Amino acid sequence: MIDLNAKASQINNILQDYLPEETKEFGDITEAMSYSVLAGGKRLRAIMLIESFRLFNNDSDMEKMLVHPFAAAVEFIHAYSLVHDDLPSMDNDMYRRGILTTHAKYGHAMGVLTGDALLNYAFETVTATLKSLEKLRGEVVPELYARVSNAAHILFTKAGYSGMIGGQVLDVYFPNDPNADKGLLKLRLLKMYELKTSNLFRAALCAGAALAGASEADIKKLDSFGYNLGLAFQIDDDILDETATFEQLGKDIGSDKKNNKLTICTLLGIDAAKDLSREKLELAGTTLESLPGNKEFFNDLIEYLSGRKK
Ligand code: IPE
Ligand code: IPE
Ligand code: MG
Ligand code: MG
Ligand code: MG
Repeated sequence: MIDLNAKASQINNILQDYLPEETKEFGDITEAMSYSVLAGGKRLRAIMLIESFRLFNNDSDMEKMLVHPFAAAVEFIHAYSLVHDDLPSMDNDMYRRGILTTHAKYGHAMGVLTGDALLNYAFETVTATLKSLEKLRGEVVPELYARVSNAAHILFTKAGYSGMIGGQVLDVYFPNDPNADKGLLKLRLLKMYELKTSNLFRAALCAGAALAGASEADIKKLDSFGYNLGLAFQIDDDILDETATFEQLGKDIGSDKKNNKLTICTLLGIDAAKDLSREKLELAGTTLESLPGNKEFFNDLIEYLSGRKK
């Protein structure tokens, strides 16, 4: 079984390396960026990005110089999305990863600005890799430029208005109408989960593969893999919001209930929600079989996700 803790600490080192040095020149912004990124977190998206690269490519120089900055960037985007998700105008939560949320610690305006800074910094981090391409091969290789721009395009498109942000918009304005058709509500909820959660999983998987030079066909398969993995992940997040403890999650529990949110869990009941999550993980497993390379990590990941407690 994979050691996800060991993998997460490797990602923590990468994040330390890529975060800007702390300075008071711009007030508290660099401190708040580090605070939001470094406070724990499972690092699943960064881990998946690197492991997806490894399915297709074993060039360790390329992994260090190109893939690590992308892995950092996907965690910067994820951290920003959480900082904004916790704001009083969104889920209004006070704890994340076992400590005060960014807005609770630094104030509302800094919550907004820290999220903005992290999103922008993700872009700075991936575009900076373009400068290191020459060092990697001793000459300019157009193929590598193409891979980096493709990976950046995937990452930022899936995080944007038609991806993760679109999902957060649907989430904030999702009608909690008890008289609406159950089947329709389920479809709409799953669409919202796909947008808000599957998309960053897909972004990590597809960007890693694009950097490795994977074929379009294999990138498509990873997209479908990430779709199902992300759905299962969000369904389980909703279940854990109802069933887990603060000690397990490190974030406010009962947040969905507090905000009167309809979730798959409240719609179908916990048992049916668990079944649905398992169904999605099985579909992910089937897609995985058709991918090349050593898939041990991803098989283990599916197993871990099928019983996760945090
Ligand atoms: C939380 O994601 C937000 C969701 C998409 C449900 P994670 O559960 O991956 O959060 P961290 O990074 O481990 O804190
Ligand atoms: C996922 O939804 C949020 C993002 C995609 C940023 P939640 O609002 O359920 O995430 P948690 O439970 O606060 O981590
Ligand atoms: Mg939310
Ligand atoms: Mg939330
Ligand atoms: Mg949640």
